[in-house]
Amino acid sequence: MAGWVVARAPATVSNLGPGFDCLGLAVDRWYDEVAVRTVEGGEIRVVEITGDPGLGAERLPSDPQANTAAVAARAVRDRVGSRAGLEIRLHKGLPLGSGLGSSGASAAAGALAAATALGADLAVETLVEAAREGEAVACGAPHVDNVGPCVLGGIVLAIPSGPLRLCRLPVPEDLHLVVYTPGCSVATAEARAVLPDRLPREDHVVQAARLGLLVHALHAGDLLLLGEAMVDLLAEPVRAGLIPGFSAAKAAAYEAGALACGISGAGPTVFAMTNRAGHGDRLLALLDEQFQLAGVPGRGAVCRVGGGAEIVAPVPH
Ligand code: HSE
Repeated sequence: MAGWVVARAPATVSNLGPGFDCLGLAVDRWYDEVAVRTVEGGEIRVVEITGDPGLGAERLPSDPQANTAAVAARAVRDRVGSRAGLEIRLHKGLPLGSGLGSSGASAAAGALAAATALGADLAVETLVEAAREGEAVACGAPHVDNVGPCVLGGIVLAIPSGPLRLCRLPVPEDLHLVVYTPGCSVATAEARAVLPDRLPREDHVVQAARLGLLVHALHAGDLLLLGEAMVDLLAEPVRAGLIPGFSAAKAAAYEAGALACGISGAGPTVFAMTNRAGHGDRLLALLDEQFQLAGVPGRGAVCRVGGGAEIVAPVPH
């Protein structure tokens, strides 16, 4: 596509046990792609939205004020101080409303493609801030726990409010993931509405201690300790009931030796962790079996922690 700059951005698993709203990782399996080119006239237009079958791309708005990729591209243009027009094409490889950071991925790819098309070499923090604006129009809040790892790649701890702080945490070499999206939907608004406003003090202390333990485990490369830390007292207890089959699937994964199993983001996607390369297929089959039994078969994959948003088809100016 001469004249177009194409960026892709990955699916993310966010929250990660005690890291509600502040911890997430990039997955090396599914991507959204956004192509951007500069045009005369100063307008920002979404000229095409496509998607892999069954992912819901047809539901996305092409209004540039409402489309996450376009809002992120505009946010980049504002930061660069450019008045160039932008044309945008979006291809969805991530399912909408699945807990895999779909809107964040479109926003991150839109931000990076726009920056590159405008010839701007922006700091990752600036790209994340621009992508958060895109995320906010889709989700109502500028979540950074998926946009952060989506832009940076790896496992990222982010401070969600106040001055932006993003920390890339070490990724243990023997960490393998299973990611499964059951065939049901969970409205993000509902998943947030069930959250408690407050956590009892003793739960807060344990949750905070586990988040510290999790960061320590990643630095130590100790996956058994990581598994011990991967318990959430805030969101999972109240969200588990929104995902048919989740509790049985989680029990089966632990029974089969998973180090961790939990809900990705607001759900319904579920993830499991293992330190054995060949074990992922077994866990994937188990999750599939459990969600079939629950009447919500879906799709999943064994994957690894992956890189962040990247340019896949640069075009010279
Ligand atoms: N952390 C958010 C939630 C989702 O669980 O509601 C994505 O940022």
